[in-house]
Amino acid sequence: MKDVREEYHAEGLVESSLHDDPVEQARRWVDEAIDAGLPLPNAMTLATVSADGQPSSRVVLLKGIDAGGFTFFTHYDSRKGEEIAANPRVSFTMFWQPFDRQMIVIGEAHKVDDEESESYFVSRPYASQISAAISPQSQPASREWLEEEVKRLEQAFPSAPVPRPQSWGGYRIIPAEIQFWHGRPSRLHDRFRYTRQADGRWVRERLAP
Ligand SMILES: Cc1cc2nc3c(=O)[nH]c(=O)nc-3n(C[C@H](O)[C@H](O)[C@H](O)COP(=O)(O)O)c2cc1C
Repeated sequence: MKDVREEYHAEGLVESSLHDDPVEQARRWVDEAIDAGLPLPNAMTLATVSADGQPSSRVVLLKGIDAGGFTFFTHYDSRKGEEIAANPRVSFTMFWQPFDRQMIVIGEAHKVDDEESESYFVSRPYASQISAAISPQSQPASREWLEEEVKRLEQAFPSAPVPRPQSWGGYRIIPAEIQFWHGRPSRLHDRFRYTRQADGRWVRERLAP
């Protein structure tokens, strides 16, 4: 690993091209990754912190940028869900390697309303609804037990929609800080950090790489 060295050739990030609203700038970057057909353009590595201060992280999928925040869906009683319940402060990172771009968001996660969770749940494929409905996410479980539960629910609900468990739904992360990082040659990368002020305005500053 020590010998793996990537050179960054991209043109860089020009401050005058950045949107004044970092949420809109984030939308641009996600849209560009989607339009370019990058693999998993909406994958984000989400970090949460336990009540006693232990961070943990995992990949989830960004499903919307709206109402001033970033939405993803999961199980509320998973490890991440329990950690968010104890401490809503989270961070997530998205990395689009072919673009030499990294985006880091720091903020607070809040459950979306039931209606929004329901409408996304029923839009998912039948098999995904079944898997979500049977999974006690983050709990120990054998493959056999999981497959039995899938069969049981498929028999009870042979077609969509499958009832959404109350413990499954969305979170919206409301950002307090968003950083845009762009790789440049010789590690002299471009970084711009937006920080939300008490009055809601965003202040942008360049950071050293
Ligand atoms: C590419 C990818 C996308 C994923 N998307 C989601 C997702 O949107 N929601 C989710 O709950 N888990 C998703 N997972 C699974 C999570 O990484 C994780 O295993 C799960 O949420 C349990 O995490 P926890 O035990 O830390 O709460 C995804 C995993 C990968 C690799």
